[in-house]
Amino acid sequence: MESKIIRQKYIEFFKSKEHSYVPSSPLVVQNDPTLMFINAGMNQFKDYFLGNKVAPWPRVANSQKCLRVSGKHNDLEDVGMDTYHHTMFEMLGNWSFGNYFKKEAIQWAWELLTEVYNLPKDRMYASVFEGDKGDGLAFDQEAFDLWNAIIPAEQIIYGSKKDNFWEMGDTGPCGPCSEIHIDLRPQSEVDTVPGRDLVNNDHPQVVEIWNLVFMQFNRMADGSLKPLPAQHVDTGMGFERLCMAIQQKTSNYDTDVFTPLIEAISAEAGVKYGENAKIDIAIRVIVDHIRAISFTIADGQLPSNNKAGYVIRRILRRAVRYGYTFLNFRDPFLFRLLPILADQFDGVFPELKSQQDFIARVIMEEEISFLRTLENGLKSFQQIKETLRGDTIPGNLIFELYDTFGFPYDLTALLARENELQMDEAGFKKELESQKARSRKAAEQEKSDWMIVSNDTDVEFVGYDNTEASAKLLRYREIKEKGGTYYQLVLDKTPFYAESGGQVGDSGRLICDDESIEVFDTKKENDLIIQFTKKLPSDLEANILCQIDVEKRNKTRNNHSATHLLHAALRQVLGNHVQQKGSLVNSEILRFDFSHFSKVEESEIIRIEDIVNRKIRENVTLDEKRNVPIEDAKTLGATALFGEKYGEFVRIITFGQDFSVELCGGTHTPATGNIGYFKIMSESSVAAGVRRIEALTSEGAEQYMREKEEILNEVQQILKGPQDVKKALNQLLEDRSNLQKELEKLHLDKASGMKDELKQKQSIHAGMNVIIEQVSLPNADALKKIAYELKNEVENLMLILACEIDQKPMIAVMVSDELVKEKSVDAGKIVRELAKHIQGGGGGQPFFATAGGKNLAGLPQVVAAAKSMIKEIL
Ligand code: SER
Repeated sequence: MESKIIRQKYIEFFKSKEHSYVPSSPLVVQNDPTLMFINAGMNQFKDYFLGNKVAPWPRVANSQKCLRVSGKHNDLEDVGMDTYHHTMFEMLGNWSFGNYFKKEAIQWAWELLTEVYNLPKDRMYASVFEGDKGDGLAFDQEAFDLWNAIIPAEQIIYGSKKDNFWEMGDTGPCGPCSEIHIDLRPQSEVDTVPGRDLVNNDHPQVVEIWNLVFMQFNRMADGSLKPLPAQHVDTGMGFERLCMAIQQKTSNYDTDVFTPLIEAISAEAGVKYGENAKIDIAIRVIVDHIRAISFTIADGQLPSNNKAGYVIRRILRRAVRYGYTFLNFRDPFLFRLLPILADQFDGVFPELKSQQDFIARVIMEEEISFLRTLENGLKSFQQIKETLRGDTIPGNLIFELYDTFGFPYDLTALLARENELQMDEAGFKKELESQKARSRKAAEQEKSDWMIVSNDTDVEFVGYDNTEASAKLLRYREIKEKGGTYYQLVLDKTPFYAESGGQVGDSGRLICDDESIEVFDTKKENDLIIQFTKKLPSDLEANILCQIDVEKRNKTRNNHSATHLLHAALRQVLGNHVQQKGSLVNSEILRFDFSHFSKVEESEIIRIEDIVNRKIRENVTLDEKRNVPIEDAKTLGATALFGEKYGEFVRIITFGQDFSVELCGGTHTPATGNIGYFKIMSESSVAAGVRRIEALTSEGAEQYMREKEEILNEVQQILKGPQDVKKALNQLLEDRSNLQKELEKLHLDKASGMKDELKQKQSIHAGMNVIIEQVSLPNADALKKIAYELKNEVENLMLILACEIDQKPMIAVMVSDELVKEKSVDAGKIVRELAKHIQGGGGGQPFFATAGGKNLAGLPQVVAAAKSMIKEIL
């Protein structure tokens, strides 16, 4: 059964059991401080489990893109080493939101595995939770009984909290689980060692394929468990492992999910998969990582130097390193896999195909720059080797290679072995630890659990229509940080817009009786709207009047609407390949990042500004539609963003049906005329294939233009008059260049006059024509010129000049070649000796040397010292 069919059958099976199909959410998590990447199918449903929101469907099935490379679930270091872990994988899931529970979950799982996929019944094992004293949890008898009605007790295994109690992170929804494991070994091996002994023992062919979680608790920040308002089912089946089992392979990498990629990379490297352990690991790392990297970029996360972007950069570098070290790639190679990958997922995850060129470009540029870093790192290793005392590389240098050049310990160890050097592993670990401690300290934050004031959970956002609302406090928590303590408040009703879609959160005030509490920011956590304050209301149950800062909001919404106009104009002028890659909208400016491969020309900028300003003058009215079914929105041709999580129902913002139609949750101006005026301040590059425009609107734009005008006026005044400024400036520049030429000529004349004077002053000593003088010259060139000319004109010359140039001392010594040869005079030596008097140093050749210094007052001493020095030369 092909992998595409396996996936399809899963969805069909659960549709037949009345589940709704829900698409995968994007990999990069946007509004959840506890999570960077989606690490399980349940993430997008977290609020339904916690009871923060009511699920729109009782039962759901999906295939979720997951990434386990950070936080509680991190498999990165295993990937490639074994044959069944991945960074990015697909998780097939079925869900019940307060609907069915253990019975159906277990029975359907068994029906699908044995009747649809025809997996062998006697080769599967189910684990059940044995209970945990610490958490006060009992053995899961119910799950045991349900399983025992299907399989013999020998196929049921008891699992501890570690294996059979599933938690998303340190806090959040959790519950006991029942895992299904499969034994894929040949019969001869099964006959000697029974499969049940190998379950949960890291055996590559006795693996977990499905996890059925029975969500019942919320893990609190203090470690305690709180029962959830309802019981739910969350199941997750590793799609790649399922394919291995059904396709009767012994490795995920031997299924058709990976073989096309493996063939391509082997051909490119001129090797064969399956012949050499090290090469095989490298190939597995590469074909695994390219998926994680590509999907994350497709979902809007570019490689960068912090947070999610940095994780992606590190995964990409891990792949490049393996290719470099074991497959001998010296040029970018990862990006070449993109067409194969995009074809594989066509129709399943279309975001790859539709952004194929962009993703490839981003990856290629990253590869180029990291390959350069690698080369530099190798050079640095070479230097370390050459300057090493003893044969052990100290920990701090290993750390430096790691930190600056991205050389993991293993790579340096490999190089060390090749060069017969030892590694100070303990020293390295110490450096690593102290770096970790430093960053922990920087990020330290103490968050209390939510304090519940009211058991209501519904939060209503009224900020599209109102700037004020009367509200009640639902819950709050305290956050302690280095900078002080503040509070996060959840209200039942709020006009405060929470930061999202690039638009900053509202600020304003909460009025409770005669108290006024400042709201300094508003953010989202999943779908919860949280207002930030420095104080709590003294009466937690009082009526609260919420007022947003209207002026800030109005400026912000002008900028947000202008961003939509800009987006549309960019597509008109540059082409339809332009896609939003990020944005920032606040009351001051708007910033828009988009995919485009070259600089936006000045003439294009002008056309873009013209289009936007025309739309402003047309005073196009806002057409806002809420709660549109997502399918209808797509039919309308509304622009959606990759990486944005859209629900069943969306909001459409239209400024002119044939101009700008976007899915957007932000606040907008009722008519474009309010934007007043639009001005682009800058256009630049932010990453490979991504450009950034920063622009201003309304008062901000006027102010900007006024400042430019003021500068121009001032320049005009300085130039004394209302004449043509451009012409006047050009004239000025021309005059300046003429004057410069004249000045240079004067300097030369002066130098040649001085040369003649110096010639007069020569005295004879021990067969040398000696000139020792203190002079002043305009620049070092003139000094050099005089010295060389005198050398040509005076035989047996011994010239020492102590010279002032631009208030700095300089010494020049010029000696005829005959003297160098016959008397072994060395100008370099002389200059070094004399330089002491001006607190300087220098050198040169035996016939000519110079020195600069700090002490101008030492020049007369230079002359005196030179004279006595000469006397000594006989
Ligand atoms: N949440 C569980 C897991 O990720 C089942 O989906 O394994």
